[in-house]
Amino acid sequence: MCGIVGYIGNKQATPVILDGLKRLEYRGYDSAGICTIVNGVAVVARSEGKLINLENLLAANPLPGSIGIGHTRWATHGRPSVRNAHPHKAGPVIVVHNGIIENYLELKDRLKKIGHVFKSETDTEVISHLIEEKLKGGDSFEPAVRKALQEVRGAYAICVLCEDEPGVLIAAKLGSPMVVGIGESEFFVASDIPAILSYTRTMIFMEDGEFALFRASATEPEFSTVAGIRIEKQSRHIDWSPLMAEKGGYKHFMLKEIYEQPRAVRDTIAGRLNEEEGDVFLEDFQLSDEDFSAIERVCIVACGTSWHSGLVGKFLLEELCRIPVEVDIASEFRYRNPVVNDKTLVILISQSGETADTLAAMREARSRGARALAICNVVDSSIAREADAVLYTHAGPEIGVASTKAFITQLIALYLVSIRFGRAVKRVDRKRGRELISGLLHVSALIEETLKLDSQVEKVARRFMNARDFLYLGRGMSYPIALEGALKLKEISYIHAEGYPAGEMKHGPIALIDENMPVVVLVPKNSNYEKVVSNMEEVIARGGRVIAICSAGDAAIREKAEVVIEIPEAPEEMTPLLLSVPLQMLAYHIAVLKGTDVDQPRNLAKSVTVE
Ligand code: AGP
Repeated sequence: MCGIVGYIGNKQATPVILDGLKRLEYRGYDSAGICTIVNGVAVVARSEGKLINLENLLAANPLPGSIGIGHTRWATHGRPSVRNAHPHKAGPVIVVHNGIIENYLELKDRLKKIGHVFKSETDTEVISHLIEEKLKGGDSFEPAVRKALQEVRGAYAICVLCEDEPGVLIAAKLGSPMVVGIGESEFFVASDIPAILSYTRTMIFMEDGEFALFRASATEPEFSTVAGIRIEKQSRHIDWSPLMAEKGGYKHFMLKEIYEQPRAVRDTIAGRLNEEEGDVFLEDFQLSDEDFSAIERVCIVACGTSWHSGLVGKFLLEELCRIPVEVDIASEFRYRNPVVNDKTLVILISQSGETADTLAAMREARSRGARALAICNVVDSSIAREADAVLYTHAGPEIGVASTKAFITQLIALYLVSIRFGRAVKRVDRKRGRELISGLLHVSALIEETLKLDSQVEKVARRFMNARDFLYLGRGMSYPIALEGALKLKEISYIHAEGYPAGEMKHGPIALIDENMPVVVLVPKNSNYEKVVSNMEEVIARGGRVIAICSAGDAAIREKAEVVIEIPEAPEEMTPLLLSVPLQMLAYHIAVLKGTDVDQPRNLAKSVTVE
């Protein structure tokens, strides 16, 4: 989720670009940079860390010129550093990029073999060298970009400059967002509306596969397909406020992030699935097959929502790798004199990578000889830095305190680790690996489908918003999702809610059942289905009001439950991802109806960096 800004017109480019980058800071960044061209020479300024560092650098050395491109980086490949900051230059070509180039390693190898020298660890730099190679082959700037883009696989939103044609800015989009702003004798390109809203409200939204060329002398951009077929684009007038624009038009960051989940899943699997081999390719992953084979036990350690994803991970790892897995809350693990040794793999799950208890738990485990694998969303965070191996989720910055897209991508990361681990220890064969990978490739579309439940869930929220207590029930892999649904509700609506194993009802909680406590029952068609149906009937028999989350078309549940929310049919191991979405929505809509601060609930912080 990087931020891109491009400018060509009659103003100085640097202040426009810097202002735009600042308005994209909600997209997160760990480094930033700008390039302008003046008198046919590109000048570049880049800095690590907060945008203020780039501002200070430019204050001392302003970049002149009325054409430029800028970038704030949310690292996916390569640590945050000046070296990895965009723009990336190769010969006369300068590129900024948002997205993931899946085949960057093979392209990089090919280009290195013909003499290209790379300065960064990023996938983006490959694009600049690829375009430079086309220029060397005799192409001019525009065809060189077109040809290069036809060789890359993955997602991109790019802006490109070239010293050979200093009055031209090129943009192209595939899979990552890009919007064009039309001003008076000036054009803007950005990842998102907020970056350019203060300069123009006339915008054109680029679609996948589209290419735009801007000339300083032109009255309008030239839009085409990457292959070169001209296209006509309609502009829109944007009347959003700046704050509305940061939320992409959504009322809250949490809702925006719920809707970002399909993209977050795609970004987290991008470049990591080896469909042919039924295996997973984890870039710069420091655990070999031999390392995995030496592991006798796994401890998953985390807090809050991340602990819930760890509970799902237990099912995946034990099922696929046949290795004992225990899951522990970090604040408990670190003080219970844990029995871990050099045959233990400790998996730390943390969106922020800064949770104090999880960080301490990792240090405790490593001091006892365990290997530590971190699953984090923030590149180069403390937990990521200190672990022996890291697998990053690519959810993009999660602003809402209540975790949604980060949770879903943690589940995806655990699928990836389980497949890799299972293949390494030869418990998962190629056929089973391909089945699992096929599930991962389709789950993003299933989440898209599940998002359509939003208006139905809002009606359910209206009906139950005044309840004082909720109970969430699930079995097997649905039990951690019941816990997660309860946490979502309590942390943003302040209604007491409890997740419980459905089979445990008769050991106590059934005493609570009455018409005042809605019971959310997760009852998808899976191996526990019949048992959960009977637990649900126990609740109904005692006057309980059931909100059933079940598989699409389940007529039996429709007959029994007061409220039925149907999720798409999916392979059993993918169901936790789909069950999570209506539960996130239910919590969200109840909180909105109750008027709580959805994005910053009382007493909570996005990252708990203290004990
Ligand atoms: C989740 O909605 C909460 N915000 C909280 O439980 C969170 O999951 C927990 O604090 C762990 O945070 P981490 O993933 O950044 O370590």
